[in-house]
Amino acid sequence: MLKGKKVLLGITGGIAAYKCCELIRLLRKSGAEVQAMVTRHALDFVTLTVLKALTSNEPLWDGDSGRLPIEHIRAAEWADLILVAPATGNFLAKVRAGIADDLLSTTVLAGWQKLAVAPAMNSQMYLNPATQENIGVIRSRGIRVWGPASGDLACGTSGEGRMLEPKELLDLIDDALAPRLTEKSPRCVITAGPTVEMLDPVRMLTNRSSGKMGFALARAARAAGLRTTVISGPVSLPTPAGVERINVQSAAEMRDQVLSLLPETDIFIGCAAVADFRPATVSPQKIKKVKGTDELTLTLVKNPDIIAEVARSEQRPFTAGFAAETENLEAYAKRKLTEKNLDIIAANDVSRKDSGFDSDKNSITLYDREGGKTELGSGDKQELAERMVREILRLSGITEHRSWC
Ligand code: C5P
Repeated sequence: MLKGKKVLLGITGGIAAYKCCELIRLLRKSGAEVQAMVTRHALDFVTLTVLKALTSNEPLWDGDSGRLPIEHIRAAEWADLILVAPATGNFLAKVRAGIADDLLSTTVLAGWQKLAVAPAMNSQMYLNPATQENIGVIRSRGIRVWGPASGDLACGTSGEGRMLEPKELLDLIDDALAPRLTEKSPRCVITAGPTVEMLDPVRMLTNRSSGKMGFALARAARAAGLRTTVISGPVSLPTPAGVERINVQSAAEMRDQVLSLLPETDIFIGCAAVADFRPATVSPQKIKKVKGTDELTLTLVKNPDIIAEVARSEQRPFTAGFAAETENLEAYAKRKLTEKNLDIIAANDVSRKDSGFDSDKNSITLYDREGGKTELGSGDKQELAERMVREILRLSGITEHRSWC
């Protein structure tokens, strides 16, 4: 999603500097070019050799006698985004005051409009009124402040001050570098995760679904410049940056939310594993075992087919569905495409052990209503989601909304 994007990663002297290695790896995997710039103190925590190997670029730092006198200007102009992670309390104070006494602070002074900082420090240092005031002023200038989170700290205590995890930072970078959204940006609505149908106050009927594919699609749609809403059943996944999330339980609730957004939906992707049936009645009390009987008969009634309703509606958006099958993949997927009147269907074989449910991997083939077949291949759900969104944009004629910050 960050293909062709240039990230200048400023590293200051905090123990969280070790997390930068993973962040660089994730950024490179997403297609970004990364240039590391380190302060002298950062070199107590990471080495130039490691940074060079991970970024494939010579790290920039004050001790490099060969660097250009205008290196700070060149670096600030080169970058699409400057992220200082970890940003120590001292560095934040320098940003606030405009102090430029080393390569990184000078670069940040020049490139402040592209700046994001990820604070990391002991919680007393973080909660110090001076740091709080510095962060408040930095934020008020439009500089992005990402984190910190609460949790275990290197000093052995626990509290606010932990640097965000590399995955969380990657998500925020994606959002910061994604096309800027306006009222005119096309809107994409995605259903994700399972639905839950209550049987009594403690039991429920549900489907197996982690929600990972739906959330990966939401991240990819936002990165492509779509105003994205994910309507999700109960899952334990963080909301991708820049994506609106609506939590629901039952198929009926999911349907209501989908229909209320329908008039402004340009693309609908039904990725949720919606329960086909729900109990005809929900017992107000816990259902008890009945002595002398070994059977319990439940009456189930059909749930609304949300995607079919969307595809039948007058305001019909471009509609994409999923067919998760264990056999006859192509035939079943094509039948669903026709019966539900979809524009495109993503067929995935959920019988495979290495992909599908709970896994970070998947294997997808797309079939469209014009008879086209596109093999998205096997791989990471995020990569497949990006390819699928690209295909949806191509087929729907809805172009990406390009206006970067
Ligand atoms: O019929 P089946 O559940 O196999 O169809 C799968 C596709 O239909 C998925 O895109 C799923 O999100 C959608 N669906 C729906 N409402 C239902 C059942 C399925 O939107 N009640």
